[in-house]
Amino acid sequence: MQNRENSMSENALRNIDLNKVPKHIAIIMDGNGRWAQMRGMPRTMGHRAGVEALKRIVKFCHKIGVKYLTVYAFSTENWKRPQSEIGILMSLLKEYVRKQLDELHTNNVRIEILGDLSPLSADVKEAIYYACERTKNNSGLVFNLALNYGGRAELVNAVKQIVDDVQKGKLICSEITENTLEKYLFTKNCPDPELLIRTSGEMRLSNFLLWQVAYSEIVVVPECWPDFNENSLVEAVRIFQNRERRFGGIKKVEQTND
Ligand code: IPE
Ligand code: IPE
Ligand code: MG
Repeated sequence: MQNRENSMSENALRNIDLNKVPKHIAIIMDGNGRWAQMRGMPRTMGHRAGVEALKRIVKFCHKIGVKYLTVYAFSTENWKRPQSEIGILMSLLKEYVRKQLDELHTNNVRIEILGDLSPLSADVKEAIYYACERTKNNSGLVFNLALNYGGRAELVNAVKQIVDDVQKGKLICSEITENTLEKYLFTKNCPDPELLIRTSGEMRLSNFLLWQVAYSEIVVVPECWPDFNENSLVEAVRIFQNRERRFGGIKKVEQTND
């Protein structure tokens, strides 16, 4: 089965230009609950299956040369869910980080966190901090886990720090630029994602990377996250590679024709 899947994704790879794979891919991993419910299972089974999808996708991104992968694991709004579901999500996360750490480290992956970990329980924080610390000098794929992350909270946090630095005389208000603000975001060390993928067909950002996706290409796929596999990722990259990115300008041909 694994071999067959490998050769399927090898075939799919012919559909994309491996020299033009996005440097940074961001994913809203959505639809775990629906995936489970469609199968008559509790939502938590969907989250378990979602972890398996995540393992495959991280490996595959490393393989095709993606430099940054950012996944939305838990939003600032996900605290509204039942305590039992939050508990399962947190323990799955801890288990994932603990069990995958050796392999991620061997593959030269650097784990980073986007979000405010302070409300998380001590054991979850400990597992995450340890993983970040252990992989901090790795130079391969940067794997950003957006955890208790919200785009609005990130911007509020940035504004507070900027005001603080202005008051301390470290920054001059009139000299603040877009680049300055970027340095205060959780993503200060990464370029903006060229490609944003959302699974399960939902057409919204749900407070994910509001600043950073200003010019990202958005690809929404119908499959729920647990069904998202290597082929789905290749297909999203293929769609991305067929898009024309203009960044507010006009086509090159139109420019030379006038
Ligand atoms: C995404 O799947 C996982 C998290 C938000 C943590 P959902 O749990 O949102 O699944 P649906 O969207 O309800 O199907
Ligand atoms: C976004 O999915 C958050 C994560 C994938 C972690 P949600 O399921 O929470 O988003 P909404 O509620 O459908 O907008
Ligand atoms: Mg959802």
